[in-house]
Amino acid sequence: MNLNLTTKKIDTDCEIVLVKNKKIKENKELLKSLNFKGSEEECVLLPEMKKLYVGCENLDHDSIRIAIATAVKKINTTNFKSAYIKVKDNLSSYVDGFELGNYSFTKYKSEQEDKVEKNIYIEVSKIDKEIQKEFEGSVAICNSVNMVRDFVNTTPEDFYPAIMAQNAINIAKENDLECKILDEDYLVENNMGSMLAVGRASCHRSKLIHLTYKPKGKVKAKKKMVLVGKGLTYDSGGLSLKPADYMVNMKSDKGGGCAVLGIMNTISALNLPIEVHGIVGAVENMIGGDAYKPDDVLTARNGKTIEVKNTDAEGRLVLADCLCYAQDEIEDIDYIFDYATLTGACVVGVGQYTNGIMGNNSMLKHEVVKSAINSGELATTLPFNRYLKKTLKSEIADMSNIASTRYGGAITAGMFLDNFITDENKDKWVHLDIAGPAFVDAAWGYNPAGASGAGVRLTIEFMKNL
Ligand code: BES
Ligand code: ZN
Ligand code: ZN
Repeated sequence: MNLNLTTKKIDTDCEIVLVKNKKIKENKELLKSLNFKGSEEECVLLPEMKKLYVGCENLDHDSIRIAIATAVKKINTTNFKSAYIKVKDNLSSYVDGFELGNYSFTKYKSEQEDKVEKNIYIEVSKIDKEIQKEFEGSVAICNSVNMVRDFVNTTPEDFYPAIMAQNAINIAKENDLECKILDEDYLVENNMGSMLAVGRASCHRSKLIHLTYKPKGKVKAKKKMVLVGKGLTYDSGGLSLKPADYMVNMKSDKGGGCAVLGIMNTISALNLPIEVHGIVGAVENMIGGDAYKPDDVLTARNGKTIEVKNTDAEGRLVLADCLCYAQDEIEDIDYIFDYATLTGACVVGVGQYTNGIMGNNSMLKHEVVKSAINSGELATTLPFNRYLKKTLKSEIADMSNIASTRYGGAITAGMFLDNFITDENKDKWVHLDIAGPAFVDAAWGYNPAGASGAGVRLTIEFMKNL
């Protein structure tokens, strides 16, 4: 699908007409006879008239995205070569609807449909620098979101730590980023026993990925931001093996790491005046003769000891060392965000469509929630407290990797990570549990079944506002 901006009406195979607030303004009788009401995700195609009417129940940005995605899906059932729509404002929401709504993951289908390449013409009142920038920026963000969807949907057989590292190298080349790939020798030399243990039983060696973006030319970086992602290319649970039903879809446990790669892929296209570090712990959690065990005590890079009580709480072990690495290697950090499909408890607590936002800085957490909502992602804060913190105590080590209570699992996981944030960075850190929206079985709104690319749009929105 090609999106084109224009300032005049173009004669195409069909014109998309959004019916806002259920107010049908043309062809009233005909649409009524077809029982078209203008509800969300409702559309009717009148081919002779070359019109596609789509319901857009409300006027908010997400209603527009959903309506456009509904139109795209309808057009994709035809052999139309072109479509046209007139847009007065909120151009970026229309672009999101087209680009994100058009996504499908067909890599593993033996019969590839030969899709007719469609040209979409978006009429705007004028095309100046600002409009062009908004348009190209939105397309770049959507392309990255779709790239993340592809990564996350790819099977663990085809996407393991070395492949994740290779994708990072490719992203670095395309975007002129610095790229460091550190292997297990580095993890051993730097006492990263927590991350190392998780990947030990896998036939794939763990990789620590570090991408860096610095503004080009004379532009001075206004802020320094660090993004850390959980990149579990597969989470079988390890010796605390997941039950069969719970293991399905655990290819999505790399969602946080992939989101970080997606964000790094977008920043240089947007020319943002900030320095950004993207760090990913790419690891596979498997079983085997040398698997790490419940009862082991691990030592993380900062010297803290962790009693393993459950090998399925592995993401926090990988992140612990990655967070230490980030804070050792990068000075004067302004923001440090981590992204992880960390807990089933977060999904239970807030539902599968919403990100859980945690940390020590209320203002910052709310900023992140605001950025999420403005970007079209859902997010809510989850509060730490001193009582839950105590449930992470261990009799024999500095802490346990799971809490002694079965309640508040998303929060206790977040509080575990807090042990690996230095005093200097306590207020600069935000933990995003993206376990729900990163991968949802059934399609929702303009998101497909499977990976959604959670975390990318909300972070870019946050960065734009710095
Ligand atoms: N990757 C899972 C969390 C998860 C669950 C992500 C469902 C997406 C959907 C994580 O590593 C895990 O297994 N967490 C355990 C923690 C428990 C052992 C304390 C969980 O949530 O059950
Ligand atoms: Zn797990
Ligand atoms: Zn996991």
